[in-house]
Amino acid sequence: MEKMKIVATAKQVPERVVTNDDLAGLMDTSDDWIYPRTGIHNRHVVTDENTSDLATSVAQKLLKEAGWAASDLDFIIVSTMSPDALSPHTSAIVQGNIGAEKAFAFDINAACSGFVYGMSVASSFLSSGRYQKGMFIGAEVLSKLIDWKDRTVSVLFGDGAGGVLLEASDEEQGLLSEELETFGDRGEAILTGRFANKNAFAGEISPLDPYFHQDGRGVYSFATREVPKALDKALQKANLSADDVDFYLAHQANHRIIESIAKNFGQSMDKFPTNMVEYGNTSAASTAILLDELYKSGQVKPGMTVAFVGFGGGLAIGAQIWKL
Ligand code: ACO
Repeated sequence: MEKMKIVATAKQVPERVVTNDDLAGLMDTSDDWIYPRTGIHNRHVVTDENTSDLATSVAQKLLKEAGWAASDLDFIIVSTMSPDALSPHTSAIVQGNIGAEKAFAFDINAACSGFVYGMSVASSFLSSGRYQKGMFIGAEVLSKLIDWKDRTVSVLFGDGAGGVLLEASDEEQGLLSEELETFGDRGEAILTGRFANKNAFAGEISPLDPYFHQDGRGVYSFATREVPKALDKALQKANLSADDVDFYLAHQANHRIIESIAKNFGQSMDKFPTNMVEYGNTSAASTAILLDELYKSGQVKPGMTVAFVGFGGGLAIGAQIWKL
């Protein structure tokens, strides 16, 4: 076990809610098409914020909730596939905004598995004994990567951020096991954020293409086939059965994918809480937003065993078992 505790959770979503009916006014789609296939009614979309703004709000809420000063932090990790820019990285902007002068900061990108991969890195730092207090945030403004005329992707995604404060602990709590897997040979199934590749010597090698493109069916069958296998490996490494887990917090891409995973393990959907109905798919932020809502409602509490499950771009998967 990598011993550490989650000291605080927080989330920040933009105020502007975009409903399925709003989208039906922009393109040839409908709530009748979107909701049964995805479980999504609404998503929140930025009006004047960027990724670092959402992440900074989460950081400020986390510190307030824990009663920590920014100067207590040893590190800040932000997981995002939609940063403000490549430089400065989003975590560095957050570090500057909150005045965490002692903390080093860096971003990671593992797309929709970003929460699990970020928690893995944060856990390694804390269990190494080198650092005591860390902040991890998943933050996305995916709306800037979407072609709002493309009904095949625009209905799926939303903007938001969520995070945790983590502290090294001597108690029997922390990361029990994990299974991280990458299928780079299938990466073309989810594409986004391509820069124009050109230079003074070769002209244009490949054009700018910022927008999301995905093989929806391919990703669906990948997730329903591979995620249960990875989760099963994580459970085996922790020497636990599926029944031993109190809650499964899965990436909120699609209600039907989560139902399929629950069925695979013979578990009730009561143990697989969802909130994509309100936020859509917020990639690296989705599990952190869900975790915060479950902590705040009292459903998830210290002492429980939970699984975090991520899957998506890469293609990549992450499954972790935690004793909170
Ligand atoms: N409204 C109305 N019709 C639509 C829409 C829409 N928003 N989108 C597609 N359609 C049409 C298509 O054009 C197609 O029409 P056609 O039969 O005339 O060609 C028809 O609906 C069926 O389209 P499919 O893509 O086959 O629909 P499917 O049932 O597979 O559902 C969906 C699509 C919801 C995207 C599903 O495949 C899915 O959820 N896949 C997983 C996606 C996912 O989870 N991605 C994770 C990304 S995570 C990350 O890393 C960012």
